[in-house]
Amino acid sequence: MKIFVTGCTGYIGSHTCVELLNAGYEVVGLDNFSNSKREVLDKIKEITNKEIKFYEGDMLDENILDKIMNDNNIDIVIDFAAFKAVGDSVEHPISYYINNVSSVLTLIKVMQKHNVKKLIFSSSATVYGKQEIMPITEDMPVGNTTNPYGTSKLFVEHILEDLCASDNEFKVIIFRYFNPVGAHKSGLIGENPNGIPANLMPFIAKVATKELECLNVFGNDYNTPDGTGVRDYIHIVDLAKAHLSGIQKLNEIKGGLLIYNLGTGHGYSVLEMINTFEKANNVKINYKIAPRRSGDIDVCFADSSKAQKELNWTATLDLEDMCKDAYNFVIKNK
Ligand code: WQD
Repeated sequence: MKIFVTGCTGYIGSHTCVELLNAGYEVVGLDNFSNSKREVLDKIKEITNKEIKFYEGDMLDENILDKIMNDNNIDIVIDFAAFKAVGDSVEHPISYYINNVSSVLTLIKVMQKHNVKKLIFSSSATVYGKQEIMPITEDMPVGNTTNPYGTSKLFVEHILEDLCASDNEFKVIIFRYFNPVGAHKSGLIGENPNGIPANLMPFIAKVATKELECLNVFGNDYNTPDGTGVRDYIHIVDLAKAHLSGIQKLNEIKGGLLIYNLGTGHGYSVLEMINTFEKANNVKINYKIAPRRSGDIDVCFADSSKAQKELNWTATLDLEDMCKDAYNFVIKNK
């Protein structure tokens, strides 16, 4: 079975390609390296001893998508290609809507032309916006998103709902990722954002290696046990393996759209993350309490029992594993 992975050299894309290749799938990949590096392809080969059939290009380019579908008998598409920095999306909303929404419209048009009707789409917990009730289940209301990144993901979810309503042969799984962190055990691939990391774990990892001096803890006056923000961190390898379960599900169902939260069901605060990282890696993390970051919410963690029940998938790695693997990656890639 041939799987077409967009954004295949990105953080989530590369870890998913490793699991797909290890599971025996053939993988066709597309990336424009806007937020990743070509060398990731070599790392994937080093880990799996298998190669992705890779195409360099942009999801907005209908011709490259058409070529890929003409060259390969694609069974399923997994779409990771998107910009995902919340703060950046507030400054550049139009580039987020073009890149994250228009690209999916182009992809669907080409899929329809080639009669490829199975899609796994990477969405985000940010579509839930600020929720009063925790943990979050898939049937909770979405829509009060707090940034253009989350809104772009929500727009695509609505597009996919309308697509499946119009064509009962289409089968779509939407995965709503909570906070993916960590890295492959080998340390060969991991979260390697260009510039200063916007997210907590890669920032902590760079403080640990002294590439960055001090972590700003964005607020300690939230409505949480220690006042700092609580999130549902999930190991990137657990998240990648969920896509294998998604493929199996797509091959079982007749049609329609299914939505699953991908999280651990546990919320951890910023201070808990710092303490766990320090103990797991025997390092000291310098930090100071700073003002809140606009757009942040107090608490966000998943009820992922629907994925457990319907996909027979559950996260198995804990916060200590996430901290050890994140640190191992930055040490090996300094
Ligand atoms: C986590 C906690 C911060 C940085 C975002 C996206 C989400 C997903 C994951 C794509 C919060 C605090 C952070 C720092 C800090 N990405 N923090 N100092 O904002 O929960 O989610 O990334 O899908 O869609 O919204 O993740 O890691 O930025 O923040 O104190 O330097 O760490 O306030 O409480 P977030 P994050």
